[in-house]
Amino acid sequence: MNKIKIISIFGTRPEAIKMCPLVLELSKHTEFESKVCVTAQHRSMLDQVLGIFRINPDYDLDIMEERQTLSGILTKSVLGLDDVFEKEKPDLVLVHGDTSTTFAGALSAFYHKIPVGHVEAGLRTYNMYSPYPEEINRKLTGAIATLHFAPTALNKENLKRENITKNVYVTGNTVIDAIKETVKDGYVFADPALRKISYDKERVILVTAHRRENYGEPLREIMESLKEIAETYKDVRIVYPVHLSPVVRETAYSILGGVSRVELIDPISVDEMHNLIARAYMVMTDSGGLQEEAPGLAKPVLVLRRETERPEAVNAGTVKLAGVTKQSILALAKTLLNSPEEYEKMAHAVNPYGDGHASARIAQAILYYYNFTKTMPEEFNGGC
Ligand code: UD1
Ligand code: UDP
Repeated sequence: MNKIKIISIFGTRPEAIKMCPLVLELSKHTEFESKVCVTAQHRSMLDQVLGIFRINPDYDLDIMEERQTLSGILTKSVLGLDDVFEKEKPDLVLVHGDTSTTFAGALSAFYHKIPVGHVEAGLRTYNMYSPYPEEINRKLTGAIATLHFAPTALNKENLKRENITKNVYVTGNTVIDAIKETVKDGYVFADPALRKISYDKERVILVTAHRRENYGEPLREIMESLKEIAETYKDVRIVYPVHLSPVVRETAYSILGGVSRVELIDPISVDEMHNLIARAYMVMTDSGGLQEEAPGLAKPVLVLRRETERPEAVNAGTVKLAGVTKQSILALAKTLLNSPEEYEKMAHAVNPYGDGHASARIAQAILYYYNFTKTMPEEFNGGC
């Protein structure tokens, strides 16, 4: 039988973190001819991840521009992918999640009549403007895709509501495959700012924020609440690797720059990040990935958003929605900092997002779909 030619498309940091374990898994199977095309919607934040996983893309569209627009990312990616698909004529295109690269990859593959496999399928908030534009990106990608790799049973249910019931596989999230490799006892941080922190004496709050729907007033409220926390609690150190978006950087540095016990640092590599989560007291974030990573490491998470497409850890009690006002964020943060009982209620390990075998399940599901095996992958059944 001929090999199955697969092109994995990704462009941003989180897609890379979640696709690299799968790319490495595909390379273990002789049935696949696996290629990687990055749009480079992100540049240095993407390259940081590719370096850690030692993956050299076969194609690099190098589209990133400072303060790029959504239409700019989409059009440059679709045009660039035209040439790649024309030349390679793959059997299957894999895209991940909900970014503009994801949707561009799916749309372009559709234009070339190439089936699409959607990794991290079925996450929904049912609010088209939050997360913006991700909710619509993932919905449209789901409408185009032939194979749907849903991390959890709940994600599969969401797809069912849209009448997507064929070729849906519950696999767990590939980010848990990654974190199983990166977190190590006795890990020594490469970043000097992280190395000098006394993790046993200070309570480290790890912060990230970047969502487009939080630009403006919500982001300012988030920063103001962090400032008040740092000024109130002398045993707390806020460590905030600031996203490279100029909008985020301007807001973060203007409000938090020079504030005592607030470390504003550049984006850190994913192995540093995972080990930092493991040593932190708690996490405050609007990131999707961090909501999946921290619960497995028993770290409470306050989500700096109004809603989440990842309710599994909220239901398990380790994640809470803090909203985007200074008042609502401070109320929850202070409870976690003041009350050991409330902290303990949230600080238990749960693994609703994966067991470290998502990539293997996805590979097997592809082999099953193309009749290389008669055995479907066993579904990830959640919990730990
Ligand atoms: C994108 C995704 C979002 C994802 C996030 C992960 C879209 C619409 N948004 O949002 O879903 O959660 O990535 O971080 O696809 N920049 C750099 N260097 C980098 C990366 C970014 O300078 O390595 C700057 C550039 O000025 C760029 C800006 O950040 O224009 C915004 O990047 P963009 O990919 O458009 O949006 P994100 O907010 O990163
Ligand atoms: N991350 C990282 N370095 C950083 C900040 C985040 O490696 O400085 C990782 C984080 O552990 C998670 C992913 O990036 O795996 C999340 O990416 P991001 O928050 O940019 O996007 P989202 O998940 O919200 O789409």
